[in-house]
Amino acid sequence: MLVSAKEMLQKAKAGHYAVGQFNINNLEWTKAILQTAQELNSPVILGVSEGAGKYMCGFKTVTEMVKAMIDELGITVPVALHLDHGTYEGCYRCIEAGFSSIMFDGSHYPIEENVEKTKELVKVCAEKGLSLEAEVGAIGGEEDGVIGMGECADPNECKQIADLGVTMLAAGIGNIHGKYPANWPGLSFETLAAISEKVGAMPLVLHGGTGIPADQIRKAISLGVSKINVNTECQLAFAEATRKYIEAGKDLQGKGFDPRKLLAPGVEAIKATVKEKMELFGSVGKA
Ligand code: 13P
Repeated sequence: MLVSAKEMLQKAKAGHYAVGQFNINNLEWTKAILQTAQELNSPVILGVSEGAGKYMCGFKTVTEMVKAMIDELGITVPVALHLDHGTYEGCYRCIEAGFSSIMFDGSHYPIEENVEKTKELVKVCAEKGLSLEAEVGAIGGEEDGVIGMGECADPNECKQIADLGVTMLAAGIGNIHGKYPANWPGLSFETLAAISEKVGAMPLVLHGGTGIPADQIRKAISLGVSKINVNTECQLAFAEATRKYIEAGKDLQGKGFDPRKLLAPGVEAIKATVKEKMELFGSVGKA
């Protein structure tokens, strides 16, 4: 069964650890994350971007696949199926498809419009028992080869959005999606502390979990971050393991060309990455 992320994140905030959101792209990816969460007795959030949803034949296919997998694999730890960086329309499509959690990314709208749209979604999610993540302050990342630095959120705007009744809040604190550039100044703990003070018990979300040094992750958790998103690191681990396998010529030997064998090293690499993150975030044994 899929659950809303509300309870797991409130527990994480109170217990000073974070739940990992790992983005999924296909069946193997999903299975690897679910099995690792079960093995470590950790709650988990499966993130689905709109692009990944389209790639997997639509949100309905994703929901049915994840639900069936939880059943067939005997997964008993809490699992939330979450839309990552949803558009306003995408949120409604995921609600209809049976997701248990959504993120509405209204950070590119003027704050008034972000407030209006988030308010609308708070109502719909409350009726259906879904968790809702909102975003304030743009999170940087690579676009057309140029890496944009993350923009720090305004703590007052964070409070304004948090007060609408969202479940969790993603606030830009200098974090970036993808790899961090060599001249990255690090997370702005000053901004995070100011936001934390304003929003109180509201779980905060840290996007761009790939490549943030462990000490900064620990400090962010101590200042109220209860959900950390990881995507690129699993992709890099998967690609690297697959490349090595192919370069070793194993795909040409015997039954090595079998897609199940070809994907196996990548799957193991994802499992190892997820395990490392869950240990760092402190969610092991917290299911
Ligand atoms: P990374 O790809 O940098 O790990 O970020 C993931 C993320 O924040 C998804 O929303």
